Amino acid sequence: MRDQAEKLREIIDDIKSYSKQSASMTAAPASEARVITITSGKGGVGKTNFTVNLAIKLSQKGKRVIIIDADLGLANVDVIMGKMSKYNLSDVIKNDKDIVEILEEGPCGVRFVSGGSGVQDLVKLNKMQLVDLLMKLGKLDYEADIILVDTGAGLSDNVLSFIHASKEVILVTTPEPTSITDAYALIKTISNKDPYKNIKIVVNRVESDMEAHNILDKLNTVSERFIGIKLNSLGFIMNDNCVPKSVKSQQPFVLNYTKCEATKNITDIAEILLEAKGAEMSGTSGFKMFINKLTNIFS
Ligand SMILES: Nc1ncnc2c1ncn2[C@@H]1O[C@H](COP(=O)(O)OP(=O)(O)O)[C@@H](O)[C@H]1O
Ligand SMILES: [Mg+2]
Repeated sequence: MRDQAEKLREIIDDIKSYSKQSASMTAAPASEARVITITSGKGGVGKTNFTVNLAIKLSQKGKRVIIIDADLGLANVDVIMGKMSKYNLSDVIKNDKDIVEILEEGPCGVRFVSGGSGVQDLVKLNKMQLVDLLMKLGKLDYEADIILVDTGAGLSDNVLSFIHASKEVILVTTPEPTSITDAYALIKTISNKDPYKNIKIVVNRVESDMEAHNILDKLNTVSERFIGIKLNSLGFIMNDNCVPKSVKSQQPFVLNYTKCEATKNITDIAEILLEAKGAEMSGTSGFKMFINKLTNIFS
């Protein structure tokens, strides 16, 4: 009798733990974050403002978003967010901090971390340390649906490494001729190494949608004709006074000026980006893969 009761208890325990397991499996988030690198040919075109405000919009649309501030020269995601972070990636690499613990929380649940000197530290790691780091940083795949990597401008090795490691790239330009030619130079460099890179263009600070379409058309035509690559247009952002005003008050414009033109434009871009998701998710992606590629590029 006792045997049977014991067996029954065992079976009930098994059923309980099985249902717990399957419940947690169905509740588990997708295990690969969508990693998008934001860059530009020329500096000061609005990358960081774009990144922060896009992140907030995506978060308002129900996505879990993390920003990696990978601009080694002018890391200022925290300034635009209005919140300083105490740690950076170097604390994970050298000081054994937990990446999830050092994420700083900004508005609307958007979290961010500064790359700091951590990016350079990557070069110095041996194979064992790299594997360990991949396990540590790979955690972000479970923490975020989308990871936005805000880089510096130009053709430096650092920036190019981020671009090559990332499956998707958003290239920001303004209507200024120098910004457009620098964008074109960057497209050329990217496609030399990776002709199938998914490059999405955003034209920032335009005076009209006509101006934006003209620039997109021109960039597309020369890229197709001379490099043989087709760009994707993600949209444009109007030159809007609410942007500098928000920078001064350190409050992202999508929160501060909910009805301004720039906010409407960012909302449109967020929607296009989310619609494109299905296409982007096929094949290898995720933050772990991103770091893997990044460290391979460095070593
Ligand atoms: N759409 C816009 N309208 C007006 N000013 C803008 C716009 N986007 C950016 N700016 C201004 O450009 C400056 C540089 O922006 P930032 O995001 O720091 O550029 P980057 O990260 O490319 O260096 C900021 O001072 C900001 O006020
Ligand atoms: Mg910046």
